[in-house]
Amino acid sequence: VNLLDGNLLAKTIKQELATKVEQRKALGLKIPHLAAIIVGHNPASKAYVNNKVKSCHEAGFKSSLIELSDTISQSELIHEVRLLNSDPEIDGFIVQLPLPSHIDEQEVTLAIEPMKDVDGFHPSNFGRMCLGLPCYLPATPFGILEMLRRNSIETSGKHAVVVGRSNIVGTPMSILLSRKGWDCTVTLAHSKTKNLSEVCASADILVAAIGIPNFITSEMVKPGAVILDVGINRIDAPDSPKGSRLVGDVDFKNVAPKCSWITPVPGGIGPLTVAGLMINTMSACEGIFHKHD
Ligand code: GUN
Repeated sequence: VNLLDGNLLAKTIKQELATKVEQRKALGLKIPHLAAIIVGHNPASKAYVNNKVKSCHEAGFKSSLIELSDTISQSELIHEVRLLNSDPEIDGFIVQLPLPSHIDEQEVTLAIEPMKDVDGFHPSNFGRMCLGLPCYLPATPFGILEMLRRNSIETSGKHAVVVGRSNIVGTPMSILLSRKGWDCTVTLAHSKTKNLSEVCASADILVAAIGIPNFITSEMVKPGAVILDVGINRIDAPDSPKGSRLVGDVDFKNVAPKCSWITPVPGGIGPLTVAGLMINTMSACEGIFHKHD
């Protein structure tokens, strides 16, 4: 089995971006500036956003973290979004999800200026992605494609099974893998899929984005398959110093011996999500939409 090292690839991408930042500085051009809004105290969200801020620093980007109380109203939050929309210093920004239940995530996403929507969540970007127009790709699917491309993993004609149909991972991933240039035959499986084990076992490329620890077991994996594990689940681990640890959606220990490539958790897809976000922020700063196929 070959391990797909997300930490290593993310580091390479950040170094490439740092080089670009230096070139821009030498030319007297603007330095990329990413802003992140976080609402409330969800520890996982805080950890993700802190990672994004740290990665910006490593690549020489500017970053701004806007921390808001979980008592903020939807209209106040949308006001904050509009301030970032109209701030010429900010190239791109994200609103970390999930939001508190009294706030409609769709309404907030709709308020983001599409040219600054470096998460690629606005319907304008999502629609452009579906049509193969220049756009910001959602960061996690983007990171997964970079992982495949930079490891020269063949996708053309392969059967890709994506498990999980979220707006930010499963659905866009299924669309992108089916597009020209990637050329997979795609099955988008979910909680109502019949014979899920058999469907998964027919995958040459399996993307697990379900959010259930160790859901994909070795019987569900075809020998030689490529396994991309998007899950980040915290489970109790009384023996570990913290009392808990992170595991993916794939039963790594038993699946790894069976497959050709696999991403670990942590250190697999997670760091690439951040890298994808940063590539989008650089594009936003350069004032260009990248075309991705
Ligand atoms: N929550 C989980 N993943 C993401 C992400 O990529 N972007 C944002 N904004 N929120 C998330």
